[in-house]
Amino acid sequence: MQHLLTLATLSKAQIEDILATGVRLKSEINSGTRNPIFNNLVLGLLFEKQSLRTRVSFESLIAQHGGSSLYLGSDVGWQKREPACDFIPILTSYLDVLVIRAKKHESVEEATHYSKCPIINGLTDRSHPCQALADIMTIMEHVDDLQSTKIAYVGDANNVAYSLAVICDKLGVTLSIAAPPDYQFGDDVMSSFSNGMISQLDSPRKAVSGAHFVYTDVWISMGQEDETAERLHAFRDFQVNEELMKLGEPNCRLLHCLPARRGEEVAGNVIDGPRSLVIAEAENRLHAQKGLVAWLLKQ
Ligand code: CP
Ligand code: NVA
Repeated sequence: MQHLLTLATLSKAQIEDILATGVRLKSEINSGTRNPIFNNLVLGLLFEKQSLRTRVSFESLIAQHGGSSLYLGSDVGWQKREPACDFIPILTSYLDVLVIRAKKHESVEEATHYSKCPIINGLTDRSHPCQALADIMTIMEHVDDLQSTKIAYVGDANNVAYSLAVICDKLGVTLSIAAPPDYQFGDDVMSSFSNGMISQLDSPRKAVSGAHFVYTDVWISMGQEDETAERLHAFRDFQVNEELMKLGEPNCRLLHCLPARRGEEVAGNVIDGPRSLVIAEAENRLHAQKGLVAWLLKQ
């Protein structure tokens, strides 16, 4: 049995396998075929934070292929009503797969110690692997060759940026991250990217220069609301706007995991304009995660 807490534990070939399955299932469903590959499976969603995309894409993907899901919010009392050594083995004995969205990454790591079924990280403070799979699937739909593709990530070196960096490093995609010095990855994280694909600097203009895709995420992630004033100040020169996008390649496209805050990390006319891929990117959560669930259940 294998869990998926971070893409860092997967090989390039395993990530390619997940993506290929996702691409095939997307093509099948778009031609009207819904094979019961998840027949009778039950997927649980244990969520400590709000979600639209992650929750509904997992609920839909299992239903589309013959299974069912249970959304478990705060009323089940995870980390409050009883210890993980009781809660997790009991919960997972009722399930075939469990997706967890947690405030702390360590809570999901702890859950794996007691779990009787595969666990998928549906976002923690550290990483968001499902998002990165959909991001790369979206990019693959627009380029012939990932190895000659450059992505610029402009904004907070957060959970989304981390998973994007991991998948780019694994697949050999160039990623240039621009963040204010206090909001960059530390040396420990940078040294974990071993293939030389990831660079980090504090100039959005330099990062975007020659980029085929510009990616951004909110400056204030869930749980960081107390830091709002200082973050708005620190990131004030990091907005992805039309002027910045013009520094990329002529057909440079915008990616964003969503939800977005127009007028903060991204200008409204960029995210709502012709360069934006955000709606297709969000749809790909459904397809990429099908590949992930299918792969995990084979392990
Ligand atoms: N991108 C993403 O994970 O969205 P949700 O928070 O709505 O799940
Ligand atoms: N960085 C954001 C991503 C939301 C999908 C957050 O953690 O709130």
